[in-house]
Amino acid sequence: MSSQPGIELAPAPAVHYLTLRLKAPAQAKPLLRLFAAMAADEGVIVGFGAPLVNALGGCIAGLRPFPALERPGGSVPTTQGDVWVCTRGADAGEALDRVLTIARGLPGGLEFVEDQPAFTYRGGRDLSGYEDGTENPKGADAAAAAFVAEGPLAGSSFCAAQRWIHDLDALARMPLAAQHAAMGRDRDTNVELADAPPSAHVKRAAQESFNPAAFMLRRSTPYGTAREHGLYFVAFGADLDRFERVMRRMVGEEDGVVDGLFGFSRPATGGYYWCPAVKEGRLDLTPMLPAGGIDAIPDVEVPLPTPA
Ligand code: HEM
Repeated sequence: MSSQPGIELAPAPAVHYLTLRLKAPAQAKPLLRLFAAMAADEGVIVGFGAPLVNALGGCIAGLRPFPALERPGGSVPTTQGDVWVCTRGADAGEALDRVLTIARGLPGGLEFVEDQPAFTYRGGRDLSGYEDGTENPKGADAAAAAFVAEGPLAGSSFCAAQRWIHDLDALARMPLAAQHAAMGRDRDTNVELADAPPSAHVKRAAQESFNPAAFMLRRSTPYGTAREHGLYFVAFGADLDRFERVMRRMVGEEDGVVDGLFGFSRPATGGYYWCPAVKEGRLDLTPMLPAGGIDAIPDVEVPLPTPA
């Protein structure tokens, strides 16, 4: 048993995200047949959401819908889907070719909640100019953070996907010192500020300041057009709790201090997904299927998630 290879790799130059929702009970079987047959190589990462897994009667311990959080300092919406796909490519054409190959095999009538091209920007920076991914765990620590170590879900991973919309004009209007303080790092040197305020993003999110530590493998990429742009945040973890503890602290749930990121950015989407392990080059969907496999799946109605 191994893990989906694209998760461990740094973001590709071009990626394309799809978030899909089932609209009709008969869509489940052909959809799962497609993903069970697909080569699980480094060109694609696939995850499944709680509404679909629950409707199939599967049990993925710890998988749940993404919660909507409404806090005075920042609002976090949920747009939970049933399937999340990230294709990776050397360029936008390759990422799109891969997504089109998948899209051609999908059953008709699915809802496309997200259909979002994205890209690596200036060697791994966010559109704000700050380097992203510096404190990602490396090597064996990265695998320990991202993948379930043992048990029936060994090798699989949990993913949080969240598209943020930046207001780069608002950022530019802030004095340079305030921009650095929002992030907690110097944009040019990437050095962490010695006097970063508690609201600085790197203080809110400091992985080792959580108990237990909230180590995660972030694989975010910028996206956008002239009118709407930002960061498509993606984090993989051995569970979802680590992401959620960071997110809840970012909106001020712990101490009322809101993350400086909200001064120029806001989340527009959010979903949680379980990314199966790989067996003999294919996604191992067994943990989410009834005994008897895909053929034994009844035509299931997949409920729309109710925001928590
Ligand atoms: C607009 C959205 C976001 C932007 C632009 C952003 C950007 C950054 C940057 C520039 C850093 C510092 C360098 C690094 O270690 O990567 C960072 C660190 C980090 N971010 Fe974010 N981030 C965003 C959202 C999030 C969210 C939603 C989470 C999780 C809920 C998160 C979790 C983390 C973590 C865990 C670190 C490392 C902290 C540490 O241990 O030092 N980020 N982010």
